[in-house]
Amino acid sequence: MSQELIAYLNGEFLPVSQCMVSISDRGFGGDSVYDVERTFNGKIFRLEAHLDRLYRSLKYVRIDPRMTKEEMAEITLEVVRRNEHLRGNSDWSVAQTITRGVALGNTTGRTTSVIDDVPPTVYINVYFPPFRRYAQLHEEGIHAIIPKTRNYHPDTIDNKAKHRSRLNLTMAQLEVVEADPEAWPLLLDHYGNISEGTGSNFFIVTDGVLRTPTDTSILQGLSRDTVILLAKQLGIPCIEEDIQPFDAYTADEAFMTGTSHSMLPISRIDWRPIGDEMPGPMVRRLLAAWSEMVGLDIVDQTKALAAISE
Ligand SMILES: Cc1ncc(COP(=O)(O)O)c(C=O)c1O
Repeated sequence: MSQELIAYLNGEFLPVSQCMVSISDRGFGGDSVYDVERTFNGKIFRLEAHLDRLYRSLKYVRIDPRMTKEEMAEITLEVVRRNEHLRGNSDWSVAQTITRGVALGNTTGRTTSVIDDVPPTVYINVYFPPFRRYAQLHEEGIHAIIPKTRNYHPDTIDNKAKHRSRLNLTMAQLEVVEADPEAWPLLLDHYGNISEGTGSNFFIVTDGVLRTPTDTSILQGLSRDTVILLAKQLGIPCIEEDIQPFDAYTADEAFMTGTSHSMLPISRIDWRPIGDEMPGPMVRRLLAAWSEMVGLDIVDQTKALAAISE
């Protein structure tokens, strides 16, 4: 049995080191979409909802994956199965990446067109989330910094699509790590409202009410959606509305949600401390409910795996 991770690439299951794509692949220029799930106890969490989002992203950017959602699900599950012996007591991030395929012009000398009839590149792989980093952040909280770089205006490209043309997010990261190497960016939208992080959605708690930005200029995060569902079950009021930096600075609690970490508390925003304890009571309550739903304690698992992860 292979000791190397196995991935799927264009019809084949291969060791990751043998997965090769052409330098002329349009994905190299960011012409691609993707989605990322995670497993709990080896089982993918909300795969169907993730693939629904992936197919919305594909439809928006007009890439035809040339396989049905059901086929994409089956191949994804097969990649997880083929790596199960390497999982140990850890869990995977699971990703599908689909590019528009190889640009014909680069190989034929003729003009490349975005409507060239070329097969897409489909790559599905697993990898371990950075549990050590997350364990530290569960204890200390994130320092979120609002950079000058904004999230895309939806007139340019809708942030609901999970795509790979996000150099603005890299610029935001560069900006904030210069100020604090440990900080995470918290981007504003075009109007000055808070939108999201570079890989996470954002929540605050004010007087017992959960508040999160509307989905006008964010990725419709599945972890955000899970928090909204859990809040409903727990009878916690939750509203989607415009949130300004002022609201964030003065919140009782703030946190980020994202597939690989589920939820992480925020301890500071632009150096202003948030909340009295780390993590705060709302984060603890929601994480307890989430843990119950998936059958393992998310924070305990993160801390246990921290010792053996990067
Ligand atoms: C820009 C952005 N916002 C939010 C999220 C969180 O989404 P999810 O909870 O589905 O992982 C991600 C995930 O990678 C993201 O890239």
